[in-house]
Amino acid sequence: MKAYEIQGSFGIDRLRLAERPDPQPGQGELLLAVKAVSLNHRDLTTVEGIYNPKQRLPLIPCSDAAGEVVAVGEGVTRFRVGDRVCPTFARHWTCGEPEREKLRSTLGGPLDGTLAERIVVPAESAVAAPAHLSDEEAATLPCAALTAWNAVVTHGRTKPGEVVVALGTGGVSLFALQFARLVGARVIVTSSSDGKLARARELGAWGTINYRAEPDWERKVKELTGGRGADLVIEVGGAGTFSRSLHAVRLGGTIVMIGALSGGDAPLSVIPILMRQIRVQGMLVGDRESFEAMNRGVAASGLRPVVDRVFPFEQAPDAFRHMASGEHFGKVVVRVAG
Ligand SMILES: NC(=O)c1ccc[n+]([C@@H]2O[C@H](COP(=O)([O-])OP(=O)(O)OC[C@H]3O[C@@H](n4cnc5c(N)ncnc54)[C@H](OP(=O)(O)O)[C@@H]3O)[C@@H](O)[C@H]2O)c1
Repeated sequence: MKAYEIQGSFGIDRLRLAERPDPQPGQGELLLAVKAVSLNHRDLTTVEGIYNPKQRLPLIPCSDAAGEVVAVGEGVTRFRVGDRVCPTFARHWTCGEPEREKLRSTLGGPLDGTLAERIVVPAESAVAAPAHLSDEEAATLPCAALTAWNAVVTHGRTKPGEVVVALGTGGVSLFALQFARLVGARVIVTSSSDGKLARARELGAWGTINYRAEPDWERKVKELTGGRGADLVIEVGGAGTFSRSLHAVRLGGTIVMIGALSGGDAPLSVIPILMRQIRVQGMLVGDRESFEAMNRGVAASGLRPVVDRVFPFEQAPDAFRHMASGEHFGKVVVRVAG
């Protein structure tokens, strides 16, 4: 079978289509014919050698996929041949609190990932793909969607009428917009592009702020909320945005710390966290049970992920380049098999 590998050293130009032996499912495992793979920012930084410069190579990148079960190992009862499933991001994190061993079992580094024609995953680490979604749409769910679900629903505990701020218009933030709308919240979206903000309004954004034109976007959040601030900020910006998020959120509000798009280190005053009684919750994607809960919500609501562009398997490196350009709105997907 064919699989992309980061070979020798890091960089999009080091992605090579390699031949690997067809994997075989062992006890309790599924063999999947991968249909589609979606990219996350982590996959880009993994390929670039930024996410984990010590990652052993060769590595098959990516963690998101939708695939068809083509064989099952002994003892599998969760799925049958022909089922359409998505693997979970952390294969040993089925439920419960995060633990070291669970978080070490992530696809696309340190474990080989999904950008391959065939993959084997434990049946316990797969979930049924929602029936109304295409393969490309279903492939967007394991990382970005689940992160947004856990940010808005599990940790954010968002209620109808509350105000949620989503930073940027990438995969996580647009899912956060969609889930927050599902629970009846008002969503403020920031972006570097007025064109993307117009599209965010079409998706139901209540307020929009261009963070290039208005670098003090936290003031605009206050203005839009009558001085109160937002109930929840979906923090994907990191060092460059966190201090502003501390002032965009209301007294007693929540910041869910997800990403570091603008870097991880910055001088920071912690005083607003205590004086303004802010809850800061770090999070890493989520477990299988929350994935299943999310899929029930996706199925019941008919929610459709925002797919920016689909690249053929042969052009997967161009999908990474497209993501690196920052032009995307929502998810970038690679179609692996017809
Ligand atoms: N903790 C977790 O479990 C978890 C899970 C998934 C992702 N993440 C992290 O979350 C972040 C987003 O991931 P993603 O896959 O959604 O990325 P993505 O799809 O590539 O989205 C990136 C978008 O974020 C916006 N952006 C970039 N720099 C920004 C800044 N300084 N301030 C505000 N917005 C900015 C841009 O939107 P505009 O073009 O509209 O300006 C950009 O298009 C990454 O850091 C990723 O590693 C963490």
